[in-house]
Amino acid sequence: MNIPFSPPYIDKSIEEEVLSSLRSGWITSGPQVKSLEKFLEKTYDIPNTVACNSGTSALMLALHWFGVGNGDEVIIPAYTYAATALAVLHAGATPFMVDSGDDFNLNPYKIREAITERTKAIIPVDIGGWPCDYKLISGLLKDINFNPSNEIQKKLGRPLILADASHSIGGAYQNGKVGTLGDISVMSFHAVKNITTAEGGAVCLNLPEPFNNSEIAKTLKLWTLNGQTKDAFTKSKAGGWKYDIVYPGFKMNLPDVLAAIGLAQLRIYESELLPKRREIFKCYNEAFSNYEWAQLPPFDNKEKKSSCHLYQLRIRDISEDQRDKIIDKISGKGVAVNVHFIPLPMLTIFKERGYDIKDYPVAYDNYSREISLPIYPQLSEEQVEYVIESVVKSVDEVLGRKVGGVPSFRRVREVPTHTSLSPKGDAHRTRVTNTMHFGADPILFKFARELRLNHTKAEEIIWERIKNRQLSGFKFRRQHPIDKYIADFYCHDLRMVIEIDGDYHNAEDQSKYDFNRDGEMEEYGIIVKRITNKEVIIDFENTFKALKDIASERAESFL
Ligand SMILES: Cc1ncc(COP(=O)(O)O)c(C=O)c1O
Repeated sequence: MNIPFSPPYIDKSIEEEVLSSLRSGWITSGPQVKSLEKFLEKTYDIPNTVACNSGTSALMLALHWFGVGNGDEVIIPAYTYAATALAVLHAGATPFMVDSGDDFNLNPYKIREAITERTKAIIPVDIGGWPCDYKLISGLLKDINFNPSNEIQKKLGRPLILADASHSIGGAYQNGKVGTLGDISVMSFHAVKNITTAEGGAVCLNLPEPFNNSEIAKTLKLWTLNGQTKDAFTKSKAGGWKYDIVYPGFKMNLPDVLAAIGLAQLRIYESELLPKRREIFKCYNEAFSNYEWAQLPPFDNKEKKSSCHLYQLRIRDISEDQRDKIIDKISGKGVAVNVHFIPLPMLTIFKERGYDIKDYPVAYDNYSREISLPIYPQLSEEQVEYVIESVVKSVDEVLGRKVGGVPSFRRVREVPTHTSLSPKGDAHRTRVTNTMHFGADPILFKFARELRLNHTKAEEIIWERIKNRQLSGFKFRRQHPIDKYIADFYCHDLRMVIEIDGDYHNAEDQSKYDFNRDGEMEEYGIIVKRITNKEVIIDFENTFKALKDIASERAESFL
């Protein structure tokens, strides 16, 4: 069986719409483009939409409108398609890349660290169709030092949130539809996207008061057509020949004949095409959740709805080389798969500009284990099953893991209950030791049982326990409202306050023996970020990864 990666969806209704455009006597920007824009505005509650000839053009238009230029910085994810960064370079600004989270999207916590007085915009990208945490991102922009360099920037008073929604049409976040989640959102209608016009894109305006979105849409429309006061369609009417050029615009307009494809697709997108994608996504999820090696991509929760643009499977605990071998095996079975994305710092033009993949470990980890599987409405049930079977067999062929539902827990590691560091003997260690072992063990055991079936569920359980403070001896303090948001979403930078033992003068003194200063407390899997004289600040993201390892070990002895 041969299964292509992402052929365009073309049915009779699409052919007819295109034919009707071809026969109408007008094939470049005109009534079809207008209908496409109106359709998007109405379906996705977007105040104003301007179609253009690509997603890249849409990004460039938006940055140009905001006056982003030389000396400015724009925060973007390291893990995206190059167009996100190229648009910034074309504007004359510098892309400031930040690392990803576990969900492939840029990590909001890293955005906070990246903001400087030169930051003029942030481009969150809804990778694979999974919306970013827009509320969290806009929260980060309050009370920052912003240096406006024109009237528009002064009016907004903060960096522009330019959502790159190239993948996420039809997705949603906190009851807001994709297209309305940033100040400006950009869509791509490239050939492989959920909605295509072969090549095309749109700028969706949702700027806050006092901006006049409808006026801005008119301006951007003018800029897509050389800054000409009349579009060619109007000019072609009898007596309509006079025009002026009032701005050094671009040639970024979308032709009618292409808009016709997208328009016909949009008419059946919410009722047929998107539900079909969702069905396939769920089918993959159900099948792969039986395998310990499979890390499933993020899917709908109470906050977010995915557009299911990509199915980004990750294989646990493999190298990039093993991933490549698995892809070769899958391809050998006739299934075309892909990798989304090669992180930008691994591409020549960005390497030459000094970006280094070592600074983006999560992006690299996601990339090195990722395989995008075919997902599109035309896939039959039989084809989906064949894809699943091919992936499972290929993983087995490369990794030699048992193709069954039960995890193997290969990575066993010794977990000492004491260390020799304490000068005061074991008694002083016991409390801390107990904290981890007696507090955490029952959870880990329960967790381990769950782990046999489903890793994601197990992760949820342990994090719930940590967040609900059910790990005895741990206290969490949140210093800042933003930390609270972050803690709620990611639990990244919580603090563990040490109860000071009588024999130690302060936490620093005690923790010198209880924790390696800057390093990892291997035996407990605790990774310490910083120690002050009152508290130990823990890197919970990495600590969690380590906790998972301990859980695997425990699971092995438990089962
Ligand atoms: C995340 C992302 N941003 C922007 C673009 C650019 O879109 P286009 O190809 O329509 O210019 C793409 C296209 O693949 C993309 O994947």
